[in-house]
Amino acid sequence: MPDLLLGQTLSFSGDPFAQGPEAARHERHGAVLVDGGRVTEVGPAARLRAAHPQARVHDYGPALICAGFIDAHVHYPQTAIIASWGKRLIDWLNTYTFPEEMRFADPAHARTIAARYFDLALAHGTTTACSFATIHPASVDAFFAEAQARGLRALAGKTCMDRNAPPGLRDTAQTAYDDSAALLARWHGVDRLSYVITPRFAPTSSPGQLEALGALWAAHPDCLMQTHLSEQTEEIAWVRDLFPEARDYLDVYERFGLLGARGVYGHAIHLTDRERARLLEAGAGLVHCPTSNAFIGSGLFDMDGLRAAGQVVGLATDTGGGSSFSMLRTMAAAYELAQLRGRALHPAELMWLATCGSARALHLDDRVGNLAPGMEADLVVLDLASTPAIAQAAARAETIWEALFPTIMMGDDRAIGAVWVHGRPRAGPAQ
Ligand code: GUN
Ligand code: ZN
Repeated sequence: MPDLLLGQTLSFSGDPFAQGPEAARHERHGAVLVDGGRVTEVGPAARLRAAHPQARVHDYGPALICAGFIDAHVHYPQTAIIASWGKRLIDWLNTYTFPEEMRFADPAHARTIAARYFDLALAHGTTTACSFATIHPASVDAFFAEAQARGLRALAGKTCMDRNAPPGLRDTAQTAYDDSAALLARWHGVDRLSYVITPRFAPTSSPGQLEALGALWAAHPDCLMQTHLSEQTEEIAWVRDLFPEARDYLDVYERFGLLGARGVYGHAIHLTDRERARLLEAGAGLVHCPTSNAFIGSGLFDMDGLRAAGQVVGLATDTGGGSSFSMLRTMAAAYELAQLRGRALHPAELMWLATCGSARALHLDDRVGNLAPGMEADLVVLDLASTPAIAQAAARAETIWEALFPTIMMGDDRAIGAVWVHGRPRAGPAQ
């Protein structure tokens, strides 16, 4: 039996960075018909109710139904060290991240944290995540098994590092290749899961390892490849020392076959003009991680310039360098960082980034990230009055954008009224 969700609806017929807020479709009394795990119709409630009298009705009142959030860059193994005080990137990795990632040698720890991560992500309305795992193959197994158990679309890869990491957290060029290839064969395309080839970043891979992973990608061109690019100035200087022959940071990846349209590059803050031109030419995906960039003090991503140039950009928490599991909080941080560069992102642009933009960067925009017939029914229902502070601000709204913006800026998991995964409501308080 089909399900009919009633509420306000928000979807996109285009890119609001190019077309303005008119690229969004809002229905005040809207409905979404879900059947067989997919959205089959979106339209006015009155019309869909009349056309589908047999459907099971879920009336969400004035809440806003939209596509589930897509977190395009996260480190699920860093769940337990989120919000660790102090340090810049390299110290933060050495002090908090690597010791915690070492614990994933124990598959039981990996399973515990993977389950915890997905429960937190879903509670915050995130229905798809693209994660780095650790160097341990079992950390990838744990992530995919927990995603599979929840029916989620999810992406991840074994994080490869063969230098500049502590003993116990290093693989080799050969084991990185072999383990990644075995995991890819085990998980890629199984249910809603995708394997992502994952060199952590240039400083923790030898030239031999980067070359091996470039070869693996060439052998599996339908896979995504994810890594980090130009996050902090000290990191960029380090890359220059480690790879003196490269023209710039991106050139390191390019030399080893790690630049392409299916490449997904986290941060991309301090880019040269040459790097921008090459990324655009390649059609690569950039992932903006604003809470992380503020938290670790990395810098101000050039959202306005990069989007105006036509770059593909997604949005992400970068948990646990990022300080939140919430894509609402992440949109708020994106708004604030863009303000510091003199650009006020419109709520339509923020919502688009957290759904369609991330889906596009992950090459999933034909499946998730929007409310449209044929899309997989991963949905979030936002309560636009989830706290007294938000409710009193939203009460004055005259447009959907004024009603939604207080939730974007101040909302958290309390704003998540319901979550649907692949056409099924998740158990929760507001179902
Ligand atoms: N660069 C390399 N590894 C990491 C990581 O785990 N987090 C962040 N924010 N940047 C990185
Ligand atoms: Zn990261």
